Amino acid sequence: MLEHEMAAMVRYLHHSIVVPSIGRGPIVDLMETRAKESMAHAKVLGNKVMALGGHSSVKVSEVFEPGPQQTTREMLEEDLEEEKKAVEEYLELLQLVKDDVPLEFMVRSIFLEEQAHVESLEIMLREESTTRRGSK
Ligand SMILES: [Fe+2]
Ligand SMILES: [Fe+2]
Repeated sequence: MLEHEMAAMVRYLHHSIVVPSIGRGPIVDLMETRAKESMAHAKVLGNKVMALGGHSSVKVSEVFEPGPQQTTREMLEEDLEEEKKAVEEYLELLQLVKDDVPLEFMVRSIFLEEQAHVESLEIMLREESTTRRGSK
């Protein structure tokens, strides 16, 4: 999970830099925030590895790079897919640590944030026409 959070940090930072379109400002801010949240998750996981007597990894999982043709929507769709994977992985981890209360709380708090990330991206990716319909 730590290496996935490191990758999320890199992916969001990259997206904040390369996101195209006239209205990119709010998305740049959002991507920067997500990069910082991923860093916070990586720190929590890394600090726990250290606390348990291990050595925190410096490795970063592979980050998808389709190049400059990727649209803003495609970037957000990629982010949504990655967030959904994170939710699944933390849910699995939650089962593994369920008998260790402090660890369970730690994983649960990250899991809730990942779930919120999924939901916020799903709202962003809704077609505007469906929410505007009927309003004049
Ligand atoms: Fe995360
Ligand atoms: Fe996330």
